[in-house]
Amino acid sequence: MPSVFIKTYGCQMNERDSEAVAAQFVARGYSLAASEATADVVLLNTCSVRDFAEQKALGKMANIAAAMRRTRPGAVLGFLGCMAQSRGEELLGKGVRLVLGTQKFHRAAEYADALLQGRQSAVCDTGAEAGSEAQIRDHVLGTDGTAPAVTAYVSIMQGCNQHCTFCIVPQTRGEERSRAIEDIVAEVRDLVAKGVREVTLLGQIVTSYGRRMIPTRDGKSPFVQLLEAVHEVEGLQRIRFTAPHPKGYGDDLVDAYGRLTKLCPHAHLPVQSGSNRVLKLMHRGYTRERYLEIVGKLRAARPGIGIGTDIIAGFPGESEEDFQQTLALVREADFDHAFAFKYSPRRNTPAAVMAEQLPQEVIEERHARLLALVNERSAAKFRALVGRLEEVLVEGPSRKNPARLEGRTGCNKIVVFEGSPRHIGQLLRLRIVRASAVTLYGDPAIVNLD
Ligand code: SAH
Ligand code: F3S
Repeated sequence: MPSVFIKTYGCQMNERDSEAVAAQFVARGYSLAASEATADVVLLNTCSVRDFAEQKALGKMANIAAAMRRTRPGAVLGFLGCMAQSRGEELLGKGVRLVLGTQKFHRAAEYADALLQGRQSAVCDTGAEAGSEAQIRDHVLGTDGTAPAVTAYVSIMQGCNQHCTFCIVPQTRGEERSRAIEDIVAEVRDLVAKGVREVTLLGQIVTSYGRRMIPTRDGKSPFVQLLEAVHEVEGLQRIRFTAPHPKGYGDDLVDAYGRLTKLCPHAHLPVQSGSNRVLKLMHRGYTRERYLEIVGKLRAARPGIGIGTDIIAGFPGESEEDFQQTLALVREADFDHAFAFKYSPRRNTPAAVMAEQLPQEVIEERHARLLALVNERSAAKFRALVGRLEEVLVEGPSRKNPARLEGRTGCNKIVVFEGSPRHIGQLLRLRIVRASAVTLYGDPAIVNLD
């Protein structure tokens, strides 16, 4: 029986795509290898959002190819996903025989078979394919012999039409395309029947789900209609989603946080900058005032909601004054957590050719200041939970210490505690007794909510 190993770089959407690819291989009789060293097919599912991510995948593939030349010369090595889409054929060679773009994930197993059996010598397929958004639907979930998962990702749409000037995603993922509500609900039902209690709805800009395909009804956007339909699934306990865009947080979505009890009290709201001038250059479509208004409305609709964000330091033309406005916004919005990124120029994006590119040392220095602020803030948020009771969905053994269990609060914070395997999949109320900068620790005296 041949085996496959898939390594994923980047976001949750990439993780989900890799899982759907793995499920395809399993359906064709492949086993899932524990590492690249023993696999017949090795695929790297790549990310293009920053140059660093591309360099990591390229370096890893060079190492794998060098080792495989000696140990498993017949193995098939391939790139999938965003970098495969944007670089295409230039990735073939040096041991790499398969390059598959973001609308071709569902063909991975078929191509790998043809390459392994010598029917083809190399494949590069990065074309557009109508209906490919509906193909990310199969799950591994225990088919590889592991315990069924408590939480699962569900892809609801692909692509993004926002064209933020720094972002390569509209090029690598294409135009927005959405799956039908019935198909998504059927997938969620099936997952719940297999033991899943929480789903995360995924897409590059989920709040634009179904635009131009599903009409607004009773003032509710297609995305809110989808949330309502998924909320109806019996046995499902929690709903999350990512990645949204602030422009999608109309009053209908804010109101959904107040009404839909399964919707987790958490919102990831990428702000990118606190300066209106920079937001405009970025083509983000909102101002800092509108952004803070949304944050305020969410906090009123769901007290205790956790709010996270993404911020870029050193966008072209960003002045110290603009950057100060970003720092001020971080203080004002009082984020639970924030990802701080160094601006990275991406191929064929408008920002990459803007005149005022900042020197790398300025980008680094601003990024360091931003990181220090967001880390200090998020540590304070963790500390503030000590002594409180939190609702935790138990996901499985702790990744750091498998003798303990781990789950997440509604606000998406990891809680580690001493429990028993029977707690896996249960919603527990745990007293938080200690906090590190990134983890909460729960009291083993457990109150079951089921
Ligand atoms: N909605 C998208 C966001 C794309 S990438 C999604 O998650 O699929 C995630 C984050 O990476 C963005 O929110 C942004 O903060 C950051 N990012 C995107 N392009 C970048 C660039 N060129 N340089 C630095 N950070 C970038
Ligand atoms: Fe990228 Fe902006 Fe879309 S960050 S994914 S172009 S919303």
